[in-house]
Amino acid sequence: MSAPADRFSLAGDVAVITGASSGIGRAIAEQFAADGADVVVCSREQENVDPVADGVNEAAEAADGDHGRCLAVECDVTDRDAVDALVEATVEEFGGLDVLVNNAGASFMAGFEDISENGWKTIVDINLHGTFHCAQAAGEHLADGDGGAIVNLASVAGQRAAQYMSHYGAAKAGVINLTETLALEWAGRDVRVNCIAPGFVATPGVETQMGVSADEVERGDVDRRIGTSEEIADVARFLASDAASYMTGETVAAQGVPQGEQLPNQ
Ligand SMILES: NC(=O)c1ccc[n+]([C@@H]2O[C@H](COP(=O)([O-])OP(=O)(O)OC[C@H]3O[C@@H](n4cnc5c(N)ncnc54)[C@H](OP(=O)(O)O)[C@@H]3O)[C@@H](O)[C@H]2O)c1
Repeated sequence: MSAPADRFSLAGDVAVITGASSGIGRAIAEQFAADGADVVVCSREQENVDPVADGVNEAAEAADGDHGRCLAVECDVTDRDAVDALVEATVEEFGGLDVLVNNAGASFMAGFEDISENGWKTIVDINLHGTFHCAQAAGEHLADGDGGAIVNLASVAGQRAAQYMSHYGAAKAGVINLTETLALEWAGRDVRVNCIAPGFVATPGVETQMGVSADEVERGDVDRRIGTSEEIADVARFLASDAASYMTGETVAAQGVPQGEQLPNQ
């Protein structure tokens, strides 16, 4: 068995991180690469993900060997053909695929009666169908060799009711259930499937949705502890690593101090 510290390492792994042009996805890509994994990052716009790859590759050059490299690919996870091309590009560039992080996601706040059919479908499409597409496209490669890991990004809104988030909560509840079912179906293929349910994390996406800026968070203008993308990336790195080899089908909530609110499932 490897030394305990090695079991937390992703060195030598190849990881795909969807929705990695900003926020949590970007932090996950940067942490995985700093830990020695080669990473493939995607978002809907090539020009949005290119800077992430440039930054990682510059750091890799400076580190001279201990740092992973990065490939940026334009891919909309709602488009199955584009997802297949993303997986193909990964295998062609890095020779395999060990870790898939289904991070791409989006939402908007609206009362249930104000959500149009198109709005509902858009949110379910990105958060749930995107996860389905990527897991199915990556499956055979994850099962190759030493096995693999999937880390899905759900939300505490998928574990309990969150006002004005019915579309998003339903989609994320679907992601949690898919995590559990896939963990069961793919246990025999040595593919672990786990999920993170973040609370409130300061990212560009959340700033737009909630109207809270990163500056306000930093100044402490908001009355509850808000997480950082790096704190969620830490959890993703653990779940992707051999240190989590005895965990599959789990959803780990990462939401800080509850401050008067209940923890999920209570
Ligand atoms: N921040 C939070 O408080 C929080 C809480 C719970 C759960 N989460 C979940 O954590 C994940 C990341 O959230 P975040 O706050 O970091 O979001 P974010 O800042 O809005 O970033 C979302 C990322 O997804 C990409 N994206 C959006 N639609 C896509 C699509 N169809 N195909 C491919 N990429 C797409 C965006 O890039 P482009 O625009 O360039 O395509 C961007 O890189 C999401 O699944 C979210 O639901 C976040």
